[in-house]
Amino acid sequence: MSIVFKDVTKTYLHKGKEINALRPTSLTIHEGEIFGLIGFSGAGKSTLLRLINMLESPTSGTIHVGDVEMTALSNKDLRIKRQKIGMIFQQFNLIESKTVAENINFVLKAADYPKDKRDGRIDELLELVGLSDKKTVYPKNLSGGQKQRVGIARALANDPDVLLSDEATSALDPDTTKTILSLLKRINKELGITIVVITHEMEVIKELAERVGVMSDGEIIELGDVYQIFSQPEHEVTRGFVQDIYDFEVPAHIEETAENQIITLKFLRESAEENHLNKLYRNYDLSISILNGRVEYINGIPLGILMLQVTGEANEIRRLIESIDKTPGVERAEIYD
Ligand SMILES: Nc1ncnc2c1ncn2[C@@H]1O[C@H](COP(=O)(O)OP(=O)(O)OP(=O)(O)O)[C@@H](O)[C@H]1O
Ligand SMILES: [Mg+2]
Repeated sequence: MSIVFKDVTKTYLHKGKEINALRPTSLTIHEGEIFGLIGFSGAGKSTLLRLINMLESPTSGTIHVGDVEMTALSNKDLRIKRQKIGMIFQQFNLIESKTVAENINFVLKAADYPKDKRDGRIDELLELVGLSDKKTVYPKNLSGGQKQRVGIARALANDPDVLLSDEATSALDPDTTKTILSLLKRINKELGITIVVITHEMEVIKELAERVGVMSDGEIIELGDVYQIFSQPEHEVTRGFVQDIYDFEVPAHIEETAENQIITLKFLRESAEENHLNKLYRNYDLSISILNGRVEYINGIPLGILMLQVTGEANEIRRLIESIDKTPGVERAEIYD
């Protein structure tokens, strides 16, 4: 189901002061996509997410989930609609005094799921998240990753069209994070659920999302497909988030002078798999040595990054740089720090 924000704002009143948690925002999240939201603490990510299921109501503007205008629903209709919008959290929010099965049963019951079908549904969900053997276990005896799997099972209990994830992997170690991200991917593919994920880790975006919005100070300051954002970030905040992949250390003894320059190149998409170095070596009277390099795969598309030391006459170096700037698919990377 698609999610459409039209001119939405959210202002909180805190001790008599207004906080613009979301400045005027129009945004469309497409049906069936995995959309990421990244930003620093306080940027307004959770506010935006909680507006989708109206855990917060907007100060102005309208929000549609599918063709339902959330902002126009009565309390009763909102309660029903919310059952079709699952949510998972960093702290899992499980009921500690209930077993895994009872935790899931709790939301089935709340949604008036037919009583005689609940057991079957619980088994189905636990199978989906790989926890069939943990039915009667209490949360305190589960690992973090297992708790989040219960969280996911519970969020999916009522067959939602949308799944909202607020830092769902932030409390998990990197390996467990990977398994949860691939579970979310599978859920998206197999069940066709639209997923919105909040994170402050670009790695999560890279693994999981197809498009991403970067938030800062209550605004989406940059929006695009994940490859675009990684390879050609525009806003300073975005550059800060992606800089890790461009960050190569320069050995201390290597100096930049007029005759000796360090150039970092980006090779976009197919261009990352072509042999550009041959041309550089052949056509220029320069000494070129490789200082560092790697190829990142983002949504399976290559992004090559190569740091070169180029030594020779200033004019020849300039000629090289001019030619690089004219080559499609090749760009000079600024060092984003
Ligand atoms: N219930 C509230 N009352 C008053 N101010 C709030 C409330 N909820 C959030 N805020 C403020 O709104 C702004 C955005 O908060 P929000 O929780 O959406 O940010 P976030 O991007 O999710 O941050 P984090 O990464 O820390 O979770 C912050 O300045 C926050 O202090
Ligand atoms: Mg938050």
